[in-house]
Amino acid sequence: MKQILITGGAGFIGSHLADELLGKGYRIRVLDNLSSQVHGPDRKVPPYLNPEVDLIVEDIRNADAVRKALRGVDAVYHLVAIVGVGQSMYELARYTSVNNYGTAILLEALIEQPVERLVVASSMSVYGEGLYQGPDGSTHSNIERTLDQLRRNDWELHGPKGDLLKPVATPEWKTPSLESLYALSKYDQERMCLMIGRAYNIPTVGMRFFNAFGPNQALSNPYTGVLAIFASRLLNNKAPLIFEDGQQLRDFVSVHDVARACRLAMEVPQAAGKVFNVGSGSQYTVSEIARKMAQVLGKRIEPEITGKYRVGDIRHCFPDIAQARNVLGYAPEVGLEDGLVDLAAWLDGQIAFDRSSEMREELASRGLVVG
Ligand SMILES: NC(=O)c1ccc[n+]([C@@H]2O[C@H](COP(=O)([O-])OP(=O)(O)OC[C@H]3O[C@@H](n4cnc5c(N)ncnc54)[C@H](O)[C@@H]3O)[C@@H](O)[C@H]2O)c1
Repeated sequence: MKQILITGGAGFIGSHLADELLGKGYRIRVLDNLSSQVHGPDRKVPPYLNPEVDLIVEDIRNADAVRKALRGVDAVYHLVAIVGVGQSMYELARYTSVNNYGTAILLEALIEQPVERLVVASSMSVYGEGLYQGPDGSTHSNIERTLDQLRRNDWELHGPKGDLLKPVATPEWKTPSLESLYALSKYDQERMCLMIGRAYNIPTVGMRFFNAFGPNQALSNPYTGVLAIFASRLLNNKAPLIFEDGQQLRDFVSVHDVARACRLAMEVPQAAGKVFNVGSGSQYTVSEIARKMAQVLGKRIEPEITGKYRVGDIRHCFPDIAQARNVLGYAPEVGLEDGLVDLAAWLDGQIAFDRSSEMREELASRGLVVG
């Protein structure tokens, strides 16, 4: 029976991954500092964490603790990160310290105690804007919107001649375009792990998660996933607040599918050295998602379209998951409707403090929300 270490394993994705791996007979150790932003001011062990997990409450930057956590370990999932895009644009030192430096500490320990496989959580955010196509079939992979156009509420992407571009599925080969410190730190985590993995013969896999959703996502963390934010607004009988015009396209993937993809990344030998998009393969607008969430929660509340824009936000990005299908044998099993019902069942009985207004004020006071 193999011993696995999951850093950040008390969090949303890590807790599901622990369940998935325990179900397949692996032994699971978790290193997680139960950070207050995710786990609340008391930093209690979350009730959803599987009791069979061997939990070490330590910081990823504590080299001694990391070395101890690695003893007898066959494979490592590195999931520790602070995860707020907007927040990363002003808490520069904290993001760089936990995400980048924390990864360096883990890798130094892995050089001393190599493992059979390292899987690192990367993110769709490394792409910035997704891939686009012009009316003549040309591909556009490194484009951005100007602040000027956003001030005019001109939300879509335009080609060099001003043509409207159409978003298409983004494959792993698209050039990264790092629009936030969070994205930069995720790319750094991914590249550092692949680079050091190659140099020291530790087969490494990067997993670029799209918007994961499901039970256990920190509802009161205003920097977390969009569905958890909408859910906590709705549970407080408030309208979900949507930036721009709500027509942004995203891929929402059930956390159960994410957990399965992660298991495959460890088990499939051919995955070594590669990065994979992990999504559902379907895309929805942010407005559609807010409406569907309200429906599932039985709330007749329409989302509020604010017309505001967040610095660092992108317009459309959804993945091409062919590589994960072909190499990992990954196939998403949970559709959006079933996933939302699963989320709603968990939400029933959860207390969600809606702190999203605080987050918006914080960003606005720094000029990071425009409009
Ligand atoms: N949830 C998503 O949709 C999504 C999308 C793309 C990428 N990711 C990536 O997946 C990973 C997991 O995301 P999640 O949604 O489960 O986040 P999460 O916030 O629920 O979990 C992160 C865990 O890391 C722990 N942690 C934070 N700082 C730490 C430190 N200094 N030392 C030790 N532990 C620390 C937290 O206590 C938390 O339990 C992250 O690397 C994130 O960047 C997530």
